[in-house]
Amino acid sequence: MTTGVARHAKLRLQILMRTPSSSQVLFVSLCLSGLALLTACGGGSYGGGGNNNNPPPVTATLAQNAAKHNLKVGAAADSQFLVSDSTYGSVLGSEFNELTAENEMKFQSVAPNSPTESYTGADALVSFAQTHQMAVRGHTLVWHSQVPSWVTPTDTTTQLNTILQNHINSEMTHFAGKVYAWDVVNEAFNDDGSGSTPATVRSTIWYDNPGIGFAGQGTAYIEQAMFWAHAADPTAKLFYNDYNIETQNPKSDAVYLMAQDFTNRGVPLNGIGFQFHVDLSFDNPNVLASVTSNFQRFAALGLEIHITELDIRLSDSSAASFAAQAKLYGELAAICLQQPKCTTFQTWGFTDKYSWIPGFFTGMGWALPWDANYQKKPAYTSLLTAFQ
Ligand code: G3I
Repeated sequence: MTTGVARHAKLRLQILMRTPSSSQVLFVSLCLSGLALLTACGGGSYGGGGNNNNPPPVTATLAQNAAKHNLKVGAAADSQFLVSDSTYGSVLGSEFNELTAENEMKFQSVAPNSPTESYTGADALVSFAQTHQMAVRGHTLVWHSQVPSWVTPTDTTTQLNTILQNHINSEMTHFAGKVYAWDVVNEAFNDDGSGSTPATVRSTIWYDNPGIGFAGQGTAYIEQAMFWAHAADPTAKLFYNDYNIETQNPKSDAVYLMAQDFTNRGVPLNGIGFQFHVDLSFDNPNVLASVTSNFQRFAALGLEIHITELDIRLSDSSAASFAAQAKLYGELAAICLQQPKCTTFQTWGFTDKYSWIPGFFTGMGWALPWDANYQKKPAYTSLLTAFQ
């Protein structure tokens, strides 16, 4: 098993080895920088593999390469596509060693009409994962969105307290031993704060509208959820997951203060999920340096770092955009590999065919390593190379 320290040392070695005599490194830089050279980088219509005049294509799968670093490489998935689209399952099952449910473990999905929960879609995903020796991350138990319509702010605090505890207990018990890590609480902070003033706790049905009994007490309701989760499955790793916390900023400061408080007082918390729904503006040296230092401060608390929902949206499908996207995917993979506590690298889907981006960001898309026809994009080769 490769330790994080060994992983770090190997990456540094790879960086130091960037000399013209290293065909592997030369190949990587060709893949990342040259649009005209993309034909040298394996991968469908974006590159046809090597020939006698070019270095050999990088082989193996993302999972095989990532496993050498003791890193899980995962994707969000949906069971309906396992049934309707055979290519979907063959790529997911061969390229990744982890999956998460994009929607099918959310409260609204498992209990749409009544408190009685059923897990048909999620069970199918877990079964697929087991057949393909993939780990499963659970997403997500406590969220202000995708709350079933039978749960409303007219419920009393006492009722909501019972509803939420029962939900956490039911779902975690059902998947105990099958889901190794859970996003217990998702997106509980606002995008406010400024300077050294951290972001505030989001007003939600679970916090203060009317909440489960901790309104006005900041992160106390999150703490309660963590204790319920730990009681439901003491073996599961428990995560707090959010967006816009990738760099050091008032929102990540708020999450950091919570994490520091929880770890100081023994509240169950194993790690932080950093979503990483980003665009090309993220490829800025100051931003990337801030990601590294942000990861470092959470790691110093002893917490695991999971990249949970990575996608890099584009405004067009030009070769230049694909090359820029590939570069950023590779840089984020390198940052994760350099941080021993970064143990999971997960994308939000894997094919542009089913990405959530076009439906939520008008005019944008092309965010994932495979295109809508399952051709590997330069981003795929960049990840494969980074994980080598
Ligand atoms: O399941 C219903 C279906 O019955 C109905 O016919 C159809 C009609 O619109 O809607 C279906 O539900 C949709 C669901 O995805 C499943 O496809 C919802 O409308 C749609 O809003 C929902 O979007 C998901 C979104 O979370 C909200 O839950 C996206 O697919 C999913 O990618 C997105 O994921 C979130 C993470 O959970 C948290 N972080 C941000 C990330 C992106 O928004």
